[in-house]
Amino acid sequence: MAWLRDLIRKDLSGVDKYRYGKPISELQRELGLERIVRLSSNENPWPLPDSVKRAIQTSLENVNRYPDPRSYRLRRLLARKWGVSTGEIIIGAGTESILHSLFHSIIAFGDGIVCPVPTYPLYRVAAIASGAAFVEVPVREGGTWEIKDIVDACTGRVKAVVLSNPSNPLGTFLERERMLNLAHELDSRQILLVVDEAYAEYVDDPNYLSGIELFRDIGRVVITRTFSKIYGLASLRVGYAIAPKTVADAFDKIHPVFEVSRVGQYAAHAALLEAEFINGIRLKTISERNRITQSLSEIGVHTEQTRTNFILVKHRKSDEVYEGLLREGVIVRKASDLGLDGFLRVTVGLPEENEYFLSSIKKVLAKLG
Ligand SMILES: Cc1ncc(COP(=O)(O)O)c(C=O)c1O
Repeated sequence: MAWLRDLIRKDLSGVDKYRYGKPISELQRELGLERIVRLSSNENPWPLPDSVKRAIQTSLENVNRYPDPRSYRLRRLLARKWGVSTGEIIIGAGTESILHSLFHSIIAFGDGIVCPVPTYPLYRVAAIASGAAFVEVPVREGGTWEIKDIVDACTGRVKAVVLSNPSNPLGTFLERERMLNLAHELDSRQILLVVDEAYAEYVDDPNYLSGIELFRDIGRVVITRTFSKIYGLASLRVGYAIAPKTVADAFDKIHPVFEVSRVGQYAAHAALLEAEFINGIRLKTISERNRITQSLSEIGVHTEQTRTNFILVKHRKSDEVYEGLLREGVIVRKASDLGLDGFLRVTVGLPEENEYFLSSIKKVLAKLG
């Protein structure tokens, strides 16, 4: 069977399988617990609006047919929302799939992709899968990146920089001036800036530069967004990007043609029309987020500032706290899996889930002493 091993690309030996947050069913099997709360994947926990449920129902009528490969209705709505042409919109099965195809469409074997870390681990997987060298730029003391460090890493055959803004796992964003500076520096070096804005809808701060402003200003940037977070459609797999037409055309040539299901297209279209409802989700999330951080601070637990729907909880015994929470039926994310030791990443859940998390962590900490 050695030849089978030899068949596999050698550069994949440096890629670990993605460590996702533990599924509820797995913990149930392991511990036989009745109540399990999963706060590990930054999903929106609130129920969908009725209009989205109705759209999903309608979409089911024709699931025997292939979906529209261009996602035309959704594409037109997105183009109108952002004031761009339909040819500048990319639609794919989530950010993950979009990044895979995007990197495949710009990378020749041995080119480079630069990425400030810690970050969302799938950038590395997508980069390496496309044949790129993945160049990491470590965060500085104080929890942010120097623009100069990122630009300095862009040597040789680097084609793109990929950045999560707001950052997963840090929860913070690069401020307006620094973002503009980075975008202009990269543009002058003919390097494509790819900004993943999976959590942008949670931010309401004039100092946050949404990628659409960069797109209007520079044009030669790619901005990804997802329906998996605030729009509540994680399992339907829909994401989109705003991209220069040349890049969008290349993407169209190689991405899986029918990757976005009809159900996903209908649901995303309906969700996009629910601006007020979505703003309500944002407000509820922020209010719950404040309540959690306040309660943690009252018991002496430090949390980092966050602009997203997740909270970084600092603890010198974070792995033990993680295990203790699992035994209580609470699944959070070990931030060490995301390159950040000494922290847990906790998604803001429904009020009763957050309450359960708070009472569980109090128990766990009391046992740890
Ligand atoms: C930074 C970031 N980008 C993208 C995603 C997921 O995107 P999608 O579900 O659209 O593939 C996540 C999910 O955790 C994320 O944290």
